[in-house]
Amino acid sequence: MSGIDPRDLRDACGSFATGVTVISTRTADGDHGMTANAFMSVSLDPPLITISLDHKSRMREKVRASGRYAVNILSHEMEGLAMHFAGRHDPAHADPFIERDGLPVVPGASTVFLTEVVQEVEAGDHTLFIGRVTEIERDLSAKPLLFCGGKFGALAS
Ligand SMILES: Cc1cc2nc3c(=O)[nH]c(=O)nc-3n(C[C@H](O)[C@H](O)[C@H](O)COP(=O)(O)O)c2cc1C
Repeated sequence: MSGIDPRDLRDACGSFATGVTVISTRTADGDHGMTANAFMSVSLDPPLITISLDHKSRMREKVRASGRYAVNILSHEMEGLAMHFAGRHDPAHADPFIERDGLPVVPGASTVFLTEVVQEVEAGDHTLFIGRVTEIERDLSAKPLLFCGGKFGALAS
């Protein structure tokens, strides 16, 4: 026991403003997406990024099974999609993906990274999946969706 209340830690970390992503992958069971803001660049050469997946998430086993994932950085009008992939299923988003190089990706995302998993790091109740970036797609006109203090937002300008 650390003496730190998990809810206090979550709320404190939640005061760090981030963008919002949907992690997506494909297994024999089909395509799966999950909203995540624990996304970070790791290395430029070689090109590495990481995500952090809760042991309780279905996505963790799916990324393990596929060995690949995409990170889709959401644009500001995609709050509904973020909620859909955070467990609030919405039939309006029943068919949310298109395919890129064998992975499902979100059309209209501001940036998409395709990756192959090169390292898994067990860290408490989460697993870090470090991915080598194999492809990047960007829409330079898109404005990002933001998340801070449990609320979604957008840049002022
Ligand atoms: C803004 C936001 C960010 C989130 N970030 C993460 C994250 O980085 N890692 C994680 O494991 N869950 C994160 N979650 C929670 C998952 O999206 C949620 O538990 C989801 O329902 C898990 O889906 P799955 O079990 O179908 O894979 C986040 C939720 C929200 C709304």
